[in-house]
Amino acid sequence: MTDPSRSGPRHTAIVGLQWGDEGKGKIVDLLTAEHDVIVRYNGGANAGHTIVVGEERYALHLIPAGILYPDKTCIVGNGVVVDPVKLAEEIDGLRERGIDVGGNLRISDRAHVVMPYHQLLDAAREDCGAGGDPSASSGGAIGTTRRGIGPAYADKVYRSTALRMGELLDEPRLRRRLRAICPLESAQLAALGAHDAAKLDPDALADEYAERGRRLAPHVTDTTWLLHDLLADGRSILFEGANACLLDVDHGTYPYVTSSNSSTLGIAPGTGVPMTCLDRVVGIMKTYATRVGAGPFPTEQDNETGERIRERGREYGTTTGRPRRCGWLDLVAVRYSAMICGVTGLACMLLDVLSGFDELRVCTHYRLADGTVTDRFVPDADQLDAVEPIYETLPGWSEEIDETTGRDDLPPNAKRYLAFIEEKLQVPIEIVSVGPRRAQTLLTV
Ligand code: GDP
Ligand code: IMO
Ligand code: MG
Repeated sequence: MTDPSRSGPRHTAIVGLQWGDEGKGKIVDLLTAEHDVIVRYNGGANAGHTIVVGEERYALHLIPAGILYPDKTCIVGNGVVVDPVKLAEEIDGLRERGIDVGGNLRISDRAHVVMPYHQLLDAAREDCGAGGDPSASSGGAIGTTRRGIGPAYADKVYRSTALRMGELLDEPRLRRRLRAICPLESAQLAALGAHDAAKLDPDALADEYAERGRRLAPHVTDTTWLLHDLLADGRSILFEGANACLLDVDHGTYPYVTSSNSSTLGIAPGTGVPMTCLDRVVGIMKTYATRVGAGPFPTEQDNETGERIRERGREYGTTTGRPRRCGWLDLVAVRYSAMICGVTGLACMLLDVLSGFDELRVCTHYRLADGTVTDRFVPDADQLDAVEPIYETLPGWSEEIDETTGRDDLPPNAKRYLAFIEEKLQVPIEIVSVGPRRAQTLLTV
């Protein structure tokens, strides 16, 4: 982190501290006003970031949430995996609603391409339970979004079967590459039992994706140089994290994670901008916990409490529509994420959802399988599955708070709940959110 007394523009990162859907879209939208450039550095169309402006609701998957402001530069960095079909749909959808998408959207020529066979492979692997623990309740499936994310990142690491955005702009090269790639992908699909899908036609794919490349060409550039030019020009950057810290492929609840570094640690490799640039890291957390897909979730409430949170919080996936698993706030997990991500301030989201509970439980420690009590998170999925959460119980509040305009005006027990979070995490709360709209935001710094 740079010296806070340094003058010049401030560069901020936004990151989810739980298992996704913490409300990052709302906070990116809020903080875009203070920055010139908004950059996505990881993930793909598995993300779903919701922004509510007046009566309009936008769900963005690949394009940075800053696109709603006309005068900002939005960048899809090299660490993102881009599905050109989804991206074109997103651009068209925004334009139909009067949002300008032109030179303000730049896409890295080194971002990897999600191809149709990646989605088929993702689905085929999930259907046969490859990857997870066959003894787990998910039957081995990870519960992915089936957007082809894992197979696209796998090809990036395999190298010989990967395609980057820049290659879509060179038709002969694309055709040559697809003729070499398709037999390998077809063989994998056939091995997974997806025989109908296994007959990939490289020339048909080359025709289609060259056309998609021509359409996206005006946006495609070397975004690493662009970002460094913008930095040299004194512009301030907002790094928009997708997915969340506990879904990070290295530091999350592996193997029930996504396939990129979705903590702030993914910023440098995913953009080409060094970590030393960062001045501020805003960790976004729900005031309870949710998770979509399979994997350990110690504070899950698969009961009336969970249902009540789901209904009040409208906890259904932005990308897949799946009901989200809901539970009490797990501060052991959030404290770990804040540490990994270097969080300097917190945004506590969806506090309004907790109105009406007599009591609120907050997990502060785990009892491990051997009886040891710890406040240290254990990211290994098997070990985490075996922990018993230890809770502190706090008094709830009955009042609806969605029209509150200041942190001081919240009911005393809501203030106490927030103070408890600050004390346990030792990080200041900068933002409290009491509803999806821009105005339902209490700034506390
Ligand atoms: P993201 O993936 O982190 O951007 O979050 P999502 O958009 O997937 O999910 C968050 C949901 O909560 C969206 O529907 C938001 O509109 C909504 N939301 C954000 N902040 C608040 C809040 O403070 N209260 C309520 N009730 N909803 C909120
Ligand atoms: P945002 O940015 C919630 C989860 C999936 C699955 C696992 C792996 O909206 O917070 P993948 O398709 O990435 O291979 O799925 O990760 N997941 C998310 N859950 N919000 C997200 O993004 C997610 N991105 C991935 O549900 O469990
Ligand atoms: Mg989401």
